[in-house]
Amino acid sequence: MFINLVKEFKKVPHFQKKAKKCLKKGFKINRTAHGGRKIAQTPREFYIWPMLDYSQVTSPCFVLDEARLRRNMEILDQIQKQTGVHIICALKGYSFWRSFPIIAEYLPGATASSLNEARLAREEMNKQVHVFAPVYADDEIDQILSLADHITFNSFSQWMRFKDKTLAAGVSAGIRVNPEFSTVETDIYNPCGKFSRLGVTEREFKPELLDGIEGLHFHALCEQDADALEGVLKAFEAKFGKYLAQMKWVNFGGGHHITRKDYHREQLVQILKDFRSRYPHLQVILEPGEAVGWQTGELVATVEDIVHNEMDIAILNVSISAHMPDCLEMPYRPTITGAGFPGEKPFTYKITGGTCLAGDQLGDFSFDKPLQVGDRIIFEDMIHYTMVKTTFFNGVRHPDIGMFDMSGKFHLLHKFTYEQFKEKL
Ligand SMILES: Cc1ncc(COP(=O)(O)O)c(C=O)c1O
Repeated sequence: MFINLVKEFKKVPHFQKKAKKCLKKGFKINRTAHGGRKIAQTPREFYIWPMLDYSQVTSPCFVLDEARLRRNMEILDQIQKQTGVHIICALKGYSFWRSFPIIAEYLPGATASSLNEARLAREEMNKQVHVFAPVYADDEIDQILSLADHITFNSFSQWMRFKDKTLAAGVSAGIRVNPEFSTVETDIYNPCGKFSRLGVTEREFKPELLDGIEGLHFHALCEQDADALEGVLKAFEAKFGKYLAQMKWVNFGGGHHITRKDYHREQLVQILKDFRSRYPHLQVILEPGEAVGWQTGELVATVEDIVHNEMDIAILNVSISAHMPDCLEMPYRPTITGAGFPGEKPFTYKITGGTCLAGDQLGDFSFDKPLQVGDRIIFEDMIHYTMVKTTFFNGVRHPDIGMFDMSGKFHLLHKFTYEQFKEKL
């Protein structure tokens, strides 16, 4: 694999030379993002942006880069090794199941939010399967229990309803608690907001019903750093620490942005080590989704038309509303490779989608050159949540699914069919 990468650098001789020199010295080469630029060098790692050739990619297409996924996995695995915690992949945030065999090389399992996700985790990863859903239903619980190793209940009423079945199935049961402390700023992503239904509050907690419960679970972070965990953990321990002696495990939920470049990983390691020294009998579990898929791939699209209504408007072969709904929901502005804020570069366009929804638009972006019909537009960091949340709205063509392997070769993995669209309706 390293040899292939060195071959790839042929077009950029100084990188090739540097790469060879580093290999000789025992450096490891990883591709971390596209563009062919060096982004970081440390004594142990020498990261080079890969020479990925997007002209191989079909359009539209969600394309995952195996090298960047492995880089994230190595970071998460290092935290596991340094602290002894288990890090599992939250499928709600990262469900690119064709890459699960890669994830299974590093992580001990996955967490599911439904029967379907539990089945996907069991069939495609087949390691530990944890499940948390706000409610379980009578006609699904048996199948969930047949797939799960851990199940977390959101209330004592759900626990009472399914306790006998859970114990009979030999599945380790937990209760989700609400630490009523969170620094998440966007309301729809704040599980500890006013009137939140997620987790049992201290006031509603029923210690008398804990018999059979082996774990406590909280989830209170969203795209946050280690200091946010520290705050939540304090609140959690103050409210629920007294029950930890009788538990076997504790789950710190997701929202840990561990693989982000500026995340304070040393601080996280310290927090986890300190917690483990206070409760050495507990298995600590973290379940990030976003950090698994963070900056591992793109949505490749094409300009299909340019119209003018007081400004230039590019209409693409993807839909913001159907294929990037979180951009409208949160809302947030994704990065388009090579583009800037309006007016920053000479040619500004409103970037819009191909459905009939008036609001199917992303905002204004500027480019170095005028856009032409047929130009590729690459939306960065689209592999977590974004691709999980897509719809078939308007029947518009759903982006293909593809992957760059370690040598940078593109593999088309799936093209959506008319039947898939029809069956959903
Ligand atoms: C219970 C639970 N665990 C884990 C996650 C994953 O969070 P993230 O993808 O932000 O790491 C979520 C996200 O909503 C969640 O609700």
